[in-house]
Amino acid sequence: MPYASIDELESALAGASYLPDRGLSTALYLSLKLEKPLLLEGEAGVGKTEAAKAIATALGARLIRLQCYEGLDVAHAVYEWNYARQLLHIRAAQEGTVDEAELFGPEFLIRRPLLEALEAEEPVVLLIDEIDRADEEFEAFLLEVLSDFQITVPELGTISAKQRPYVILTSNRTRELHDALKRRCLFHWIGHPSLEREIEIVKLRVPGVPERLAAEAAAFVAELRLLDLQKPPGLAETIDWARALTALGTQELDVENVSATLGSVLKYHEDLLSVRDEALAGLVASARGR
Ligand SMILES: Nc1ncnc2c1ncn2[C@@H]1O[C@H](COP(=O)(O)OP(=O)(O)OP(=O)(O)O)[C@@H](O)[C@H]1O
Ligand SMILES: [Mg+2]
Repeated sequence: MPYASIDELESALAGASYLPDRGLSTALYLSLKLEKPLLLEGEAGVGKTEAAKAIATALGARLIRLQCYEGLDVAHAVYEWNYARQLLHIRAAQEGTVDEAELFGPEFLIRRPLLEALEAEEPVVLLIDEIDRADEEFEAFLLEVLSDFQITVPELGTISAKQRPYVILTSNRTRELHDALKRRCLFHWIGHPSLEREIEIVKLRVPGVPERLAAEAAAFVAELRLLDLQKPPGLAETIDWARALTALGTQELDVENVSATLGSVLKYHEDLLSVRDEALAGLVASARGR
C-alpha cells in the first residue's frame, strides 16, 4: 500500500489529472488498503472508467481492461487455444521437423485479460468495465475468480495469481448485480461532481479554456441536470462542450453560441427541443449570473 493517507492518494490522482471527491478517494484508499475489489457505479460519464486508469497511472501499474458485453465468455475473458498454431504444429510434427505434438502447452494459449492479470509479474490494475452488460453466468464465473484469484485450464491445471491484481469493476446499472458479487467488493456510487469540482476538472482537462467559460459551462450543465431530461449530461459532456466552445474561440456563453453547440451536451433530440424552446435564454442568464 503505497499511500499513507487519503490526502496522499488524492494528490497522486491529481498528478494523473483526476480529481475525485472525498467519498471516491476514501473508497479507493480503503480498497487498496484492504485489498478488496472496488465496484464503482454511477451514471454515464461520471468518471468510473477514468478512475481505474488514473489509479493505474498513479500506482505506476499496468492497466489491464476487460470490456464486458452481452455474450462475453471465457474464451474472450480468460483464454482460448490457438488453433491455427496447433494445426501448424501438427503439420510440422507430421513432417518430422518438430517432436511429438504437445498441443496443449502454454505456448498455444491465447491469453485474455483475466489470465493476463493473474499471470502478471508486475503490479496490475484489472479494470472489469461495464460488468452489468455481461450475462449473469459470466458474473457467477467472475465471482469465483475474485474469491480465489485462480483459474483452472483443464489441460494445464490451476493457475494462481503471482500477486493479487488490484481490481476495479464498473457498472452503469442497466441491471442489478448479484448480492454475492457485491459482497466481494467495496462499493461506491459516483454522483455528479459539485460545481466547484466540475469547474476544476474542466480547467484541468481542457487546455486553454478561458476561466470564465469553464465556470459558466459547468454552471449551465449543473442547471440542465435539474431539468427533467431523458439523459442528463455527465461530466464527459461538460468537458466535450467546453472543448468545443474553446475551439470556437468562445470567451463566455451567450444564447447564440449555446444553441449552436448544445448538441455536445444533450444527446437526445427531445431534450434538445425542450431546452431550446422553453428554457435556453433563462438558463444562459442564470449560468452567467453566478
Ligand atoms: N474526477 C475526475 N477528474 C478528472 N476528469 C474526470 C473525472 N471524472 C471524469 N473525468 C473525465 O470525464 C470523462 C468521462 O469519464 P469516464 O469515461 O471515466 O466516465 P464513465 O463513468 O466511465 O462513463 P461510461 O459509463 O459512459 O463509461 C473522461 O474524459 C474523464 O477524463
Ligand atoms: Mg466507462
